[in-house]
Amino acid sequence: MGNMPDSPVHSCGIGFIGAGEISLLHGKALEAIPGARLVGLWNRTPARAAERAERYGCRRYATPEELVADPAIEAVFVLTNQETHLQFVKLALEAGKHVLVEKPLGMRTDEIAEMRRIAERCGRICVPGHNMIHEEGLARAHELIANGDIGRIVSCYVLYNLHHTEERASTLPGMVRHILTHNLYTMIYLVGKPTRVAALKATRHYEKLTREDLAMCILELENGGLAHLCASFAADDLSSDPWTFMVKVIGTAGTTCYTYQDWVEVKKGISHSRTYTAYQATITAEDRYFVDVCLKGGSPRSSLEDAIVAQKTIEAVERSIAEGLTVEIR
Ligand SMILES: NC(=O)c1ccc[n+]([C@@H]2O[C@H](COP(=O)([O-])OP(=O)(O)OC[C@H]3O[C@@H](n4cnc5c(N)ncnc54)[C@H](O)[C@@H]3O)[C@@H](O)[C@H]2O)c1
Repeated sequence: MGNMPDSPVHSCGIGFIGAGEISLLHGKALEAIPGARLVGLWNRTPARAAERAERYGCRRYATPEELVADPAIEAVFVLTNQETHLQFVKLALEAGKHVLVEKPLGMRTDEIAEMRRIAERCGRICVPGHNMIHEEGLARAHELIANGDIGRIVSCYVLYNLHHTEERASTLPGMVRHILTHNLYTMIYLVGKPTRVAALKATRHYEKLTREDLAMCILELENGGLAHLCASFAADDLSSDPWTFMVKVIGTAGTTCYTYQDWVEVKKGISHSRTYTAYQATITAEDRYFVDVCLKGGSPRSSLEDAIVAQKTIEAVERSIAEGLTVEIR
C-alpha cells in the first residue's frame, strides 16, 4: 500500500554533534530524505551553532549531553574533527542513540575497535561515514566484480585531484588521513583488502601549512592484483580527461570506471572551485541508506571492520613514508 495522506509516516529524528563544513552537506541531505528530520545540533563555537540552527530551523543544545538526552533524537551524526570522534560516539551510543560517524573514524585502529565494542554492548548501530561509495555506478561496479563478471582483478585506481585553499585545509589533517581514507574504503569496497603498501607524500601548493597536500601509494591486494591511490589538494586536473575523483577497476574480463567529471556545475562548491554534483549526491545517498536500510537492520555498505582495515592501512602508509619501506598490513 502506498502512503495514504493520513497514514502515520515515521520520521527519524537526527541530531548533529559538530556543525562545521561537512554539516552543510548532511543538512542538505536530510532535507531531501522524507524518512528523516534534523531535530537539533550542538557545536563547540556557539555563534556557529546559532547560525546553523537558524539555517536549518532546528533546535540548538547547550551541551552534547543535552542533545543525546533528547528523546526526539534517535540517531546522532558525529561531525566534529577526528580527534574527538570516539568521545562523542561513546556519549551517543551510551545514551541509546544510533550513530553515523564521519571519516576518518578515529585517530588509531584501537579507537574504532572501541566504537565497535561499545555499539555491541549498547545494542545500537555505529556506521562509518564512508560516503564516496554511495553512488549507483559504484554499487554496480561492486556487484560486477563480486560476481566475477570482469574476471580476475588486475588493477584498481582511486585518484583524487581537487584544489583546496589553505584556509579550507587549515582545520583538516593532511592528505594521508583526510583523503587517502576515502580512496582506501572505496578500494576495499570494490576489490577487497590490501596486504602491503608503499607510499610517498609531498607539499606542492601550501605556503604556510606544514602538512602534505599530496600523497600517493601503491598497494598489493589480497586477491593478487595491485592498486594505485592518489590524494591531492594541490591542484585541479584541467586536462581533457580530468582525474578529479576517478575510480577504475581493470579485470581480465572487463573494466569499470566512475568519475565526478560526468556532473559539473559552474557555480562554486562548498570547498571546491566548481560544484561536483556527485559530492553532495554521495552524502545524500549515504544518509538515505543509513535511515532507510541500516536503521531497519540492513548491513552498511562499508562496515566498522572495513574502517579498521582502512585505518590499519593509513598507519602502514604513515610508516612507509616515515621509514621509506614497503609495509605489511596486518
Ligand atoms: N565525507 C567527506 O567527504 C568529508 C569532507 C570534509 C570533512 N569530513 C569530515 O568531517 C569532520 C568535520 O570536518 P569539517 O570539514 O566539517 O571541518 P570544520 O573545520 O569545518 O569543522 C570541524 C568541527 O569540529 C569541531 N571541533 C573541533 N575541535 C573540537 C573539540 N575539541 N571538541 C568539539 N568540537 C570540536 C568544530 O567546532 C567544528 O564543528 C572531520 O572528521 C572530517 O574528516 C568529511
